[in-house]
Amino acid sequence: MHRDIQRVLISQYQIMARVKELAVQITADFPQKDITIVPVLTGAMIFCTDLIRQIPVQMHIGLLAVSSYPGASLSTQGSQLIGQQVGDIRGRHVLLVDDILDSGGTVRLIVPLLRQLGAAEVKTCVLLRKDRPAAMKTHVDYVGFEIPDEFVVGYGLDYNNYYRNLPDIVTLTPEAIERMKDAS
Ligand code: IMP
Ligand code: MG
Repeated sequence: MHRDIQRVLISQYQIMARVKELAVQITADFPQKDITIVPVLTGAMIFCTDLIRQIPVQMHIGLLAVSSYPGASLSTQGSQLIGQQVGDIRGRHVLLVDDILDSGGTVRLIVPLLRQLGAAEVKTCVLLRKDRPAAMKTHVDYVGFEIPDEFVVGYGLDYNNYYRNLPDIVTLTPEAIERMKDAS
């Protein structure tokens, strides 16, 4: 797997330090002390498990699954809700957690949905934001890192559902992208 890495953009140590900072900010911003955290599966899974263990607040966890880069896609094919188990969020303060803000389609799809389900407040947190106009135009409350408009994997992010277990955020070699296109 490691020969497939072209460049490490953000190391696991940088991620760890930034996750702590985000958690401090989020803890201070939710005075309710009883919140619902909603990670967008599958990409936000690893980020969310690290983040919530640094947030010493009573919380529920609700799950949402969205598909936007199905299979070996390198750009969004439009966000689609493919499953949800958010529970009863009526009147609750919700934090939506996603891995990366790219076209903004996921946030634009999910935030209204959580409001429809009766959330009193919906805030959004993404680990990464790509430097592209669509991402910059989409409002989110917390951003871990700004990154160039490149395709990245690791720390939950995938290519064709692989590489999520890499500890760092990296780019892949063109050879890896070609080879893993048809892997299953
Ligand atoms: P958006 O809906 O276009 O903002 O994209 C968000 C979703 O697309 C993320 O939650 C990821 O699942 C996926 N995605 C966007 N950019 C990348 C990338 O560079 N690598 C892997 N997945 C990505
Ligand atoms: Mg995702």
